[in-house]
Amino acid sequence: MKGTLAFDIYGTLIDTQGITGMLEKHAGLKAEAFSQLWRKKVLEYSFRRGLMDRYLDFAACTHQALDYTLEVFGIPLSVREKTALLEAYRELPVFDDVREGLSEAENAGFRIYAFSNGKRSDVEHLLDHGGIRKFFIDIVSVDEVRKFKPDPEVYRHFLKRSFSQPEHTWLVSSNPFDVLGAVSAGLKSVWVRRSPPVIMDPWEIAPEVTVEKLPGIVPAIASFENTQVS
Ligand code: 2OP
Repeated sequence: MKGTLAFDIYGTLIDTQGITGMLEKHAGLKAEAFSQLWRKKVLEYSFRRGLMDRYLDFAACTHQALDYTLEVFGIPLSVREKTALLEAYRELPVFDDVREGLSEAENAGFRIYAFSNGKRSDVEHLLDHGGIRKFFIDIVSVDEVRKFKPDPEVYRHFLKRSFSQPEHTWLVSSNPFDVLGAVSAGLKSVWVRRSPPVIMDPWEIAPEVTVEKLPGIVPAIASFENTQVS
């Protein structure tokens, strides 16, 4: 048996900046900056809610982060316009390399799971919409334990739900905080460095494997494992 791959969703399989085109209608040339701040705030709210033990699901963080970002950019939107943006967020596109990367992992015999801060229904909708649901054995959402990444409990929960052993389980994520969260909880990790300007946090722990794109994770994991046995 090859082991288990836990694919992060937002930012790894799903392009959170895929909403920029739609944002241009409201934010014009600032659409990209708007989209980046929105995503940054969603994550910040999840971290803060985790620390404060004040859980509201990821969709609520996304909604409140949108309100914050609209206020920062001074854009007043009607309820209908806001709802349309939040609906579009539920149908963000998959990155171009995802299908090939998932096929490669499936053909290599890995057990493939989706593992996200997002609610199960939202993740399911994204995977269905992107036509990639069939690759996954199941979706594991942090919502089941009402904590957010990188709380160690969510990684332990993933192991339990997927019947996996940490030494044979790889989190695949583009988000450095998620990668280090998994490593810290005893899992292995592949960092998908989608945007080269993004750097890994210079901590005392690090991912075992780094790739630029999803196709390539299978040989990269194999080559890491070879170094472990020799
Ligand atoms: C996810 O869990 C971290 O947003 C990222 O899908």
